[in-house]
Amino acid sequence: MRKMPFAVCLGAALLMIAGSAAAEQPNFAKVKEYRIERSVPPEAQACIECHRATTPGIFADWAKSRHANANITCLDCHLVQPGDVDIAKDHEKYYGRSDLPYGEDQYKVPIASIVTPKDCSRCHPDETTQYSRSKHANTIEIVWKIDPWLNDGMNSDNERKTGCFNCHGTVIAIDADGNIDPATWPNAGVGRVNLDGSKGSCTSCHTRHRFSIAEARMPEACDQCHLGPDHPQIEIFEESKHGTMYHAYKDEYNFDAAGGTWTAGVDYRAPTCAGCHMSGSGKVFTTHDVTERLSWETQAPLTVRPSEFAAFPAQTDWQTERNKMKDVCRQCHGDSWINDFYAGFDKAVEEYNEIYYKPARAMMDDLYAKGLLDKTKYFDERLELEFYELWHHEGRRARMGAMMMAPDYSWWHGFYEVKFRFANLMEEAGHLIETGEKAYVAKDFPNATGSTERPKAVFPQ
Ligand code: HEC
Ligand code: HEC
Ligand code: HEC
Ligand code: HEC
Ligand code: HEC
Ligand code: HEC
Ligand code: HEC
Ligand code: HEC
Repeated sequence: MRKMPFAVCLGAALLMIAGSAAAEQPNFAKVKEYRIERSVPPEAQACIECHRATTPGIFADWAKSRHANANITCLDCHLVQPGDVDIAKDHEKYYGRSDLPYGEDQYKVPIASIVTPKDCSRCHPDETTQYSRSKHANTIEIVWKIDPWLNDGMNSDNERKTGCFNCHGTVIAIDADGNIDPATWPNAGVGRVNLDGSKGSCTSCHTRHRFSIAEARMPEACDQCHLGPDHPQIEIFEESKHGTMYHAYKDEYNFDAAGGTWTAGVDYRAPTCAGCHMSGSGKVFTTHDVTERLSWETQAPLTVRPSEFAAFPAQTDWQTERNKMKDVCRQCHGDSWINDFYAGFDKAVEEYNEIYYKPARAMMDDLYAKGLLDKTKYFDERLELEFYELWHHEGRRARMGAMMMAPDYSWWHGFYEVKFRFANLMEEAGHLIETGEKAYVAKDFPNATGSTERPKAVFPQ
């Protein structure tokens, strides 16, 4: 392919606006100039120059990215790959527009709107392989296997579209006209199921078109999903000393350090989410599989080891993974500090499992066995919702507060609420058993209209 030099001048438009003022006021600060002068294929030059005019924000983001520095162009990611069905057919019409830069037929190439982990894997195979085995990438399979809202159809399709699937990801589909089904797109959920068979969306943490390593190292990259009553990791982090230090010192943190070189105690004083869960540290390698370094599965009703989580058993040994996490801590803390912390976390898990969860579960089973609760549907009786909140909300908060150093979440939002819920649940259950009265079954559980059919792209039969 013929190569051509080109110059990209970010801020040219701004310079034009500010130009006259600057000419009159020579002491005014200049707008930063930005130039890349090297070879790219003419078709890629067309993307850049036309989009510089038509979508300047996208151009500016890309121009500031390390990709632009390394000559990775629009074409490298958006070019249609064999098997791609998401071709942007309407895009061809821009090549017949004389009012647009490079709007000529000779530059025409087919492009895809969706850029998937498979597209990134051409240059980033390790990140993609690690990601593809993570719970992030496989969450659609997991939620369809275990979630009562989906499996019992207890919420509406739109409640899922505006809620669940924005975080977990959609199953992207093509509609009857060959266009991407707008009900499934755009979406940047961690487990998006793509048309090329790959899973996930790298933009969940590296937003386009900066694709920045620095952004992904900040807690803000995780907090759009890891928040709220059932998984308040960002609130927990905010409460912890590590979070306090992040806010006090983040201006001194060197978030831009090259991959694999971000050094605990040198580039940052206290870890962020990525620092503990993903970034390389000491002898521990960087990973794009967030299940690594975990020794408990605390989102589950009964806490189990990650390898015992039936819906998606991790291929890991919990002790090896715990040692990796401890190695991360060891970059800044001594062994007794770390071991004492883990002892408290393990004890919180044990107490939650034995003192609260198991007796509550046994009571629920007893009520079902006696026919006082009806098992046909979940969530249509008050005790079922109470039990759900016991493990799904406050029970998780208690364990998660203990495991990430947030006393308010461990106690006031956690074990205190667990106790309160437990006492109420037991009182009401006792009342049913004493009177032999059946629990009220809601005939009108609102908007329980969601489809219970599992997506074929994930469950072929
Ligand atoms: C002659 C102008 C022109 C050229 C050359 C051009 N584009 Fe576009 N492109 C546009 C315009 C205009 C839009 C629509 C923007 C909008 O909707 O506001 C667009 C839209 C897109 C979209 C979104 C499509 C969708 O359906 O969501 C992508 C992705 C894209 N361009 C990538 C590229 C790539 C990659 C190249 C180079 C191979 C390229 N463009 C070359 C003008 C151009
Ligand atoms: C490193 C890969 C990569 C490069 C390089 C890249 N893109 Fe993209 N682009 C993406 C991803 C990822 C998305 C989001 C689509 C998705 O989630 O699948 C996207 C989305 C878009 C969209 C649709 C977004 C919208 O808001 O409408 C346009 C238009 C686009 N890119 C144009 C460009 C242009 C122009 C360039 C070059 C200046 C470029 N892209 C370079 C990966 C890339
Ligand atoms: C054609 C090859 C190519 C493709 C395709 C590609 N990248 Fe890259 N990427 C690179 C190169 C080369 C670098 C290193 C640039 C540098 O450090 O100067 C890089 C760097 C990065 C970085 C580190 C940026 C930083 O701030 O240090 C991230 C994150 C990244 N890419 C994500 C992605 C994602 C996500 C995709 C797919 C949407 C993708 N890349 C597609 C070649 C590619
Ligand atoms: C704000 C983003 C967000 C929304 C909205 C959301 N989730 Fe989640 N979900 C998460 C996160 C984050 C986790 C992981 C929590 C953890 O590991 O602590 C999770 C965990 C889960 C799990 C447990 C998976 C496991 O491995 O045990 C299921 C099941 C689930 N969600 C289903 C749903 C369903 C169904 C909906 C909608 C009714 C929904 N979620 C809405 C972010 C979200
Ligand atoms: C777009 C939403 C989203 C973003 C952004 C996100 N996550 Fe998640 N995360 C999820 C969901 C959903 C799950 C639950 C997956 C499951 O178990 O089905 C999850 C699960 C996890 C888990 C638990 C894995 C396990 O085996 O139980 C960890 C740890 C995690 N995420 C860390 C992070 C970190 C660190 C970041 C930021 C660097 C991040 N996540 C960004 C949605 C997100
Ligand atoms: C859950 C958040 C998250 C998601 C999703 C994610 N990344 Fe990353 N990525 C990170 C973090 C955090 C780092 C920084 C690691 C470090 O500190 O060196 C990173 C670093 C990178 C780097 C730089 C690696 C290096 O050593 O220079 C590349 C390349 C990259 N990611 C590509 C991808 C690709 C490709 C995908 C999709 C398959 C992806 N990422 C999805 C969080 C994420
Ligand atoms: C100081 C290190 C540290 C920081 C900072 C940190 N975590 Fe954690 N995280 C842990 C430890 C330790 C565990 C428990 C590991 C185990 O299971 O042994 C954990 C567990 C988790 C889990 C697993 C929940 C489950 O399913 O069992 C998620 C999700 C998570 N963290 C997300 C985050 C997010 C998001 C952030 C930032 C807002 C964050 N973490 C910050 C150390 C940290
Ligand atoms: C980059 C360095 C760094 C890493 C890595 C790190 N910490 Fe810390 N941590 C600190 C600093 C600094 C403090 C604040 C000490 C103080 O209060 O003076 C702290 C405080 C704590 C505290 C005290 C909280 C409180 O409320 O007083 C605990 C517990 C803790 N860390 C546990 C851990 C665990 C467990 C890990 C690994 C999963 C870890 N830390 C990883 C730097 C780090």
